[in-house]
Amino acid sequence: MTQNLLLLPGDGIGPEVMAEVERLIAWFNAKAHTKFETTHDLVGGASYDKHGLPITEAAMKKALEADAVLFGAVGGPKYASVPYDKRPEAGLLRLRKDLGLFANLRPALCFDALKESSTLKPEIVAGLDIMIVRELTGGVYFGEPRGITNLPNGERRAVDTQVYATHEIHRIARVAFELARLRRNKVASAEKHNVMTSGLLWKEEVTKLHAAEYKDVELTHILADNCAMQLVRNPKQFDVIVTDNLFGDILSDEAAQLTGSIGMLPSASLGARDANGKQRALYEPIHGSAPDIAGQGKANPIANILSFAMCLRYSFAMKKEAGLVERAVSAVLDQGLRTPDIMQPGMRQIGTSEMGSAIRAALDKLAA
Ligand code: IPM
Ligand code: MG
Repeated sequence: MTQNLLLLPGDGIGPEVMAEVERLIAWFNAKAHTKFETTHDLVGGASYDKHGLPITEAAMKKALEADAVLFGAVGGPKYASVPYDKRPEAGLLRLRKDLGLFANLRPALCFDALKESSTLKPEIVAGLDIMIVRELTGGVYFGEPRGITNLPNGERRAVDTQVYATHEIHRIARVAFELARLRRNKVASAEKHNVMTSGLLWKEEVTKLHAAEYKDVELTHILADNCAMQLVRNPKQFDVIVTDNLFGDILSDEAAQLTGSIGMLPSASLGARDANGKQRALYEPIHGSAPDIAGQGKANPIANILSFAMCLRYSFAMKKEAGLVERAVSAVLDQGLRTPDIMQPGMRQIGTSEMGSAIRAALDKLAA
């Protein structure tokens, strides 16, 4: 079996952390039965610099054809004055929309070795294992009308539209309920039904679907602002959190910090399965391009490496191999090796490529 991967490293630290994933792919090609073939293309600022667009039609075509897309990071201060639709971020949003990647899975898992490096007390985060399921192709990110208009009185006016239809709510809630069944069987649905009509619809539709098909799963509704507070107060009360595009963006960054560093967290963005069982998918670390440390070999490649582990699990059903990667990361952290973002007293600080090598060395041992 050969699987085709499209690699879109992007901007800033994207290429550095992607290089470690490529070395990991080479490791798997040498050891495992499945062979990965990789092609590369530009996205974000890198694509804008060369083509004047954050993603080209040719790159989109490759993404649509690939078995899975591995994405690094996009953006940077250099592009601050680029028009909105040509910004680096627009490339990522187009990928999500055109590939139909409505379900964004963002696990927040606290490795035991890192419980001291969170800004929260270790007892609050030790053993943390939350799955945030973020709706990714709807809501205010894509709603129409949107835009800035000039008013007759000389002022300007901006509009964004938060919009959800029943089917969008049902399909994302379904993903959350199904995942919960494989975990601790609890779903918290976060919205603002007290203020937003889209929040009210969200709550009603999640409730309906739950009553019709998922009564065995424990469902709670939580206001998104309260959810933000509960995440720092007592994050371990949560198992799966399902929420819309914008709240998911915010809550997942917050959850990331619980685990010690945003440099640790992977994500999977999945579409619906087609008649042939094929499911479009894109995997990316949830961190950004970190222009302040780009090119210095300091970036933590773990989020991207764990994103590849999610790719093994969700796109290729390679559960055993995914588990191996996750255990290798854990082993390296247990050895006291740390990139600067997760550095703690008494540990050894290393760079991006040393972290990648250490993880592959741990894999060699685990697979032996
Ligand atoms: C994320 C990012 C993106 C988002 C940006 C880069 C467009 O913050 O994936 O969380 O807002 O969705
Ligand atoms: Mg974000």
